[in-house]
Amino acid sequence: MRVLLAGGAGYVGAHTAIALIEAGHEAVLLDDLTNTSGLVTERIARITGGRAPLVAGSAAHVDDVERAFAEHGPFDSIMHFAAKKAVGESVEKPLDYYANNLDTTYALLRVGIANGIRSFIFSSTGTVYSDPADLPFTEEATRNLVDLSNPYSKSKLMNEVVLADVQKVNPGLNITLLRYFNPVGAHESGLVGEDPKGTPNNLMPFVARVAVGALPEVGIFGDDYDTPDGTGQRDYIHVVDLAEGHVAALEKAQPGLAAYNLGTGIPVSVRELVASFERAVGHELPKSVKPRRAGDLAATYCDPSKAEHELGWKATRTLDDMTRDVWNWQQKNPGGYEG
Ligand code: UD1
Repeated sequence: MRVLLAGGAGYVGAHTAIALIEAGHEAVLLDDLTNTSGLVTERIARITGGRAPLVAGSAAHVDDVERAFAEHGPFDSIMHFAAKKAVGESVEKPLDYYANNLDTTYALLRVGIANGIRSFIFSSTGTVYSDPADLPFTEEATRNLVDLSNPYSKSKLMNEVVLADVQKVNPGLNITLLRYFNPVGAHESGLVGEDPKGTPNNLMPFVARVAVGALPEVGIFGDDYDTPDGTGQRDYIHVVDLAEGHVAALEKAQPGLAAYNLGTGIPVSVRELVASFERAVGHELPKSVKPRRAGDLAATYCDPSKAEHELGWKATRTLDDMTRDVWNWQQKNPGGYEG
């Protein structure tokens, strides 16, 4: 199948382009390159031996989406990765988040439906779940917009509502909501990985920067949570597993609306993640306990069994695979794509 990946030059999009090409599909990237590098396409070509053409433009602009269809269509499917995703920034700049994260969906759906796409695969988030009483989160866990703590998560849940309404009046269309837990890792070649601008907010890229000596120490945000070792637990998923989840969703897409958790279902603590990274590096990393970070839950992890039953997909890569691949990527690209 032929797929338009909006935000396809970003971290998850690029890994998904690779997985699509390796599964025999065609991938075209639409990306404004605000949070990634145009060099990604050359890396994808080196890994796959195939091309993923890049249309430089914004998924929020109908004209740019139309240009992608005119130059590279028709497409069987759109995958929508093009979003702003920093939780803290979303609290500071809510309008930027609501505008970008909804305008992109609007433009992609307008043009995609007019051009006869059969499926629309949306990057949602495990942060649409909010109540620790629901752990492990199934797709049915109660979700309420007003309970969500930040505009990023709310913008994703708003998208889910919009998409459900659009599907109702387009009964032949498949809309798949993929709720990601914590994507980490890199392609095992070390050619494609996460390239955050500035000091990373998320744990894994932060630890990687400490390991290369670019940051002095890992701060462990709280060790007095009600968890086995007192540190926060998350459901980290290898980005290549996540990418393969998108291929499965594409290949299994039937008319209708479906939501799937993409995670491992295994809670991993901050201390366990750091210990795994230390095994990858071969020595201990400097670290100290800091106060809790505002807004953090003690634990989030999913029940991924629906995706296994219905999509035939299951995450297979371990925590040590994730940290090994991040360390490989970080060593080969200490300054990210642009060096
Ligand atoms: C964050 C986002 C979430 C997004 C996810 C993507 C927040 C509040 N949530 O989730 O919306 O979907 O990333 O992966 O930003 N930690 C440390 N030291 C650090 C950084 C983090 O101890 O330097 C801890 C945190 O307290 C948490 C765990 O590590 O317990 C994971 O944090 P992080 O990687 O930022 O992910 P989330 O907060 O789960």
